[in-house]
Amino acid sequence: MAIFVKNIKQLVQVEEKPVVWRAGKEMQTFHKIEDAYLLTEGEKIVDFGKMCDFSPEKLSKIKEKIEEIDATGKFVFPSFCDSHTHIVYAGSREIEYVDKIKGLSYEEIAKRGGGILNSAKRLAEATEEELYEAAWARLQEMASLGTGAVEIKSGYGLTTETELKMLRVIRALKKNSPLIIRSNFLGAHAVPLAYKGKQQEYVDLIINEMIPMVATEDLADFIDVFCDKGFFTPEETERILMQGMKYGMRPKIHANELDYSGGIQVGVKYNALSVDHLEYTGDEEIAHLLGSETMPTFLPGAAFFLGMIYGPVRKMIDAGLPVALASDYNPGSSPSGNMQLILSMGCIKYKMLPEEALNATTINSAYAMGISDIAGSIAKGKTANFYITKPIPSVEFMPYSFGSNKVEQVVLKGKII
Ligand code: NIG
Ligand code: FE
Repeated sequence: MAIFVKNIKQLVQVEEKPVVWRAGKEMQTFHKIEDAYLLTEGEKIVDFGKMCDFSPEKLSKIKEKIEEIDATGKFVFPSFCDSHTHIVYAGSREIEYVDKIKGLSYEEIAKRGGGILNSAKRLAEATEEELYEAAWARLQEMASLGTGAVEIKSGYGLTTETELKMLRVIRALKKNSPLIIRSNFLGAHAVPLAYKGKQQEYVDLIINEMIPMVATEDLADFIDVFCDKGFFTPEETERILMQGMKYGMRPKIHANELDYSGGIQVGVKYNALSVDHLEYTGDEEIAHLLGSETMPTFLPGAAFFLGMIYGPVRKMIDAGLPVALASDYNPGSSPSGNMQLILSMGCIKYKMLPEEALNATTINSAYAMGISDIAGSIAKGKTANFYITKPIPSVEFMPYSFGSNKVEQVVLKGKII
């Protein structure tokens, strides 16, 4: 199949010379073409430009059947890349949410059997098919809201068998979904009840049993650890990351959500692709990130839902760093995968300019999941992942009009969804 989108009011985030990310002041820039066309063939973008430079010969070179779309009055954006999610889970946790409204602390909820361990219990009882169906429905909704690539973590299993079960579900989603998917092994999400008071033994289990088995089935692109106060220490994180790297998994870690945990430093030391959450980021952490290949990633959905402090995004961009934004879609701290809302939160809560928030949710979040060579912008040879908006007046309208769906039509891997 080929797609010819014509009369596009504005084609946004186009790149003649693709970059891997945008940092510092560069985050305020992206290229756009007014009154544009876009041409795809198979799974790829093959051409784009101004309507006045379009000639019918361009279509005669296309071998596949061409579908024509008239986008008069509409914008075309590259699909969002959501570089941090936990969308394979069973059930939901709205009761804990109500408990939180009533004033219960995270610790009190955990004591009542809530939190990550609650999701682990439910996941153990669910079949692979049930988990697949539930995650598939979440992916469908995310796609309808403009997302075209998703990183998915394990971490609600917490036994070898159930972690493998989660990762096999992610593998099946990867194979069948129209979205680009990457998988992340997060055995170190929490210490399961069976290992209460024996954290070291659980870390040994991850290192000696889980990681080799995950690698044998080639189930994970990345390795993750919740490196934070009350969860896993920087020393435990180092041991887990080293073993994951030995088996070919690049680190991408949860860090500094609850405290100055040392997680950012460990992430940079092991060349993590990203360090995520980062509510507690000071000058020392910023100094470590500068000059590194690690993408600082913020998850405003979780900060909003839990009523936490917001990380120093403005300060970090002003210091010259790149920043990515992702949804953290999970049942406990961010039960939403709506990247349009994340775009708005970037502007409203972190004082990012619309251009910065757009880069943070496309090219920079593509980098944070290792796919900026194939996604995150409109460039020749990249995967044809984009959405066509309803008629809107400007790029700025996207974050401004928070809470409503501005996406009208979605194309993923060159197919209309
Ligand atoms: O990314 N911070 C750690 N893990 C998840 C929350 C998981 C849960 O509560 O189920 C997060 O926010
Ligand atoms: Fe997370």
